[in-house]
Amino acid sequence: MLLSTSARLISRRLIQSGTRRTASTSNAFRCNEENLRNKALPYYASATAAALVAVGAIQHNNSQNATATEGLSVQEAVNAVEDKFAVYWPRNIIILFGPPGAGKGSQAPKIVDIMGIPQLSTGDMLRAAVAAQSEVGKQAAAVMKAGGLVSDEIVVGIIRDRIKEADCRHGFILDGFPRTIVQAKALDKMLTEEGACVTNVVEFNVPDKVLEERITGRWIHKKSGRSYHVKYAPPKSMKKSWKGEIDTASMIDDVTGEPLIQRPDDTAAALKKRLAGYHNDTEDVLDRYKPKGVVKNINANQGMEDVWKDIQVSLLR
Ligand code: AP5
Repeated sequence: MLLSTSARLISRRLIQSGTRRTASTSNAFRCNEENLRNKALPYYASATAAALVAVGAIQHNNSQNATATEGLSVQEAVNAVEDKFAVYWPRNIIILFGPPGAGKGSQAPKIVDIMGIPQLSTGDMLRAAVAAQSEVGKQAAAVMKAGGLVSDEIVVGIIRDRIKEADCRHGFILDGFPRTIVQAKALDKMLTEEGACVTNVVEFNVPDKVLEERITGRWIHKKSGRSYHVKYAPPKSMKKSWKGEIDTASMIDDVTGEPLIQRPDDTAAALKKRLAGYHNDTEDVLDRYKPKGVVKNINANQGMEDVWKDIQVSLLR
């Protein structure tokens, strides 16, 4: 019983995995040359065949009351197939693109859930460096508080190290990177060296005028990065005085019960500078990816559930 459930789950996982990789192949076509096209098809055929063989063998062994496939445990068989995908298939490399407060950090964990690839937020990584008072953190702290951009060298270095980690082997979601043309060029170079490329850019469109309310009403849970809003996504514990003022002691994380905080750069003054940086330096990055056909524009000026629906559509290929 347990085994046949495992086999069904594995079949589904492998089939989903195969479907994803079929889709990724079309991105390989978009961003790479003819030789990758010629390589991709045979790999698709062999990897899918391997997955089906693995599932078939596991199911056969189940009917024989066995627990393994050719000497492999169920988990090992799945790992072996996943290793093949990791070696031979293009990775999902997704950029979440939009101004401060557009909703990138609110939506990213849902993409993590459905795709199983990590969110790499340069903002979160820099805030962790500031909290740890590391050398990078000391250099970044004042610039961040004022709403400026940290140097390209620092941010590119952080990303270069992070994407080499094992959890990035099937892909990753970039949140807050690249923010300048220099960063975009550095990213593309790193990816090209590994035979990969950016597969999706999800552009969050929100008019500037709605961002101030979003940013100044935001509270976050520092350890997890979970984001709340006094009006649009209040924590369950939030209380207001009879005058309608927020009781700051009641701003508690729903999951851990720990206090929430407001970011030092979430002020109206710092937002002005962050928005200016976005329009002057960051928007140009889109022009680099538009000709590759990977940019999907979504309306982020609607309820969070509707934004999420649009994102899911934008990720289908
Ligand atoms: P970073 O942390 O990346 O901040 P940001 O890009 O300014 O983005 P935010 O986190 O402010 O916005 P978000 O889109 O994630 O919004 P959220 O989902 O929380 O960067 C911070 C700083 O680090 C930078 O200023 C810079 O100094 C430095 N830095 C980082 N990366 C760098 C790089 N690559 N190069 C150089 N420097 C770098 O939503 C906001 C609020 O709105 C929340 O309260 C949420 O609940 C609410 N909300 C979200 N969606 C909706 C909705 N649809 N309707 C109503 N409310 C909503």
